[in-house]
Amino acid sequence: MKQEDNVVIKLSGHAYFSDLNFDLLRRLTNIILEVKTKGYRIGLVAGGGGIARSYIKILKNFGLSNSICDLIGIETSRLNAKLIASILGKECCISIPNSYDELLKIVMNNRYKVIITGGLQPGQSTNTVAVLLAEIMKAKILIITTDVDGVYSRDPKKYPNAKFLNEISVTELTKILKTTHQAGEYGLFDVLSLVLLKRLKVPVYVISGYTPENILEIIMGKHVGTLIKPN
Ligand SMILES: Nc1ncnc2c1ncn2[C@@H]1O[C@H](COP(=O)(O)OP(=O)(O)OP(=O)(O)O)[C@@H](O)[C@H]1O
Ligand SMILES: [Mg+2]
Repeated sequence: MKQEDNVVIKLSGHAYFSDLNFDLLRRLTNIILEVKTKGYRIGLVAGGGGIARSYIKILKNFGLSNSICDLIGIETSRLNAKLIASILGKECCISIPNSYDELLKIVMNNRYKVIITGGLQPGQSTNTVAVLLAEIMKAKILIITTDVDGVYSRDPKKYPNAKFLNEISVTELTKILKTTHQAGEYGLFDVLSLVLLKRLKVPVYVISGYTPENILEIIMGKHVGTLIKPN
């Protein structure tokens, strides 16, 4: 990657925002600033994490619709985005967009700041937002952090014998993931993000959010986690 290239990073809701950990968030934000100092332009998308799932669970118990649950999930991801924006301070756009249109304006008007957003639209995960932001910013690479260290042959939390995959194509990934379309249960990738990944055509890395230093390693050309190859 050249130093003026753009990179989009999905910040795992589960790894970063379920239990707020000072040391982990300090390491993450320091790495983001280091990547920026090297000249890369960064777009960030914050996930909802455990807080979003708690809100969604209780609302579902009250019988509320998926759309309303999604909207509440979006609000929590926006709060998570604001948290990171506040820590990054003047290096980051503090205003969190409410729509793709607002996101586009922020991208156009802030060449030298880190861009950050949360969720934007019911019916889609923040991974979908990350894929679309990568498109909007013409990113050379998309990094998806999560709470496991990459893609496995099956959900590693349910199947301890699942095989770790160093790389996978989008088509193969679509075959192995059990995608649901329920608020708070979009899983590793939701259907829409998989469809959009097919046209994105840039390398996508899935890595553990608990070692944010790996974000820099990937940008410097190292293979960490799972590489999702463009078809
Ligand atoms: N084949 C698979 N490989 C890896 N993880 C998988 C797979 N299938 C399902 N998963 C599950 O996907 C989870 C990660 O997605 P999840 O949406 O729960 O977290 P996140 O995306 O990091 O958080 P958020 O959505 O709040 O940003 C993993 O914890 C794992 O249990
Ligand atoms: Mg997720």
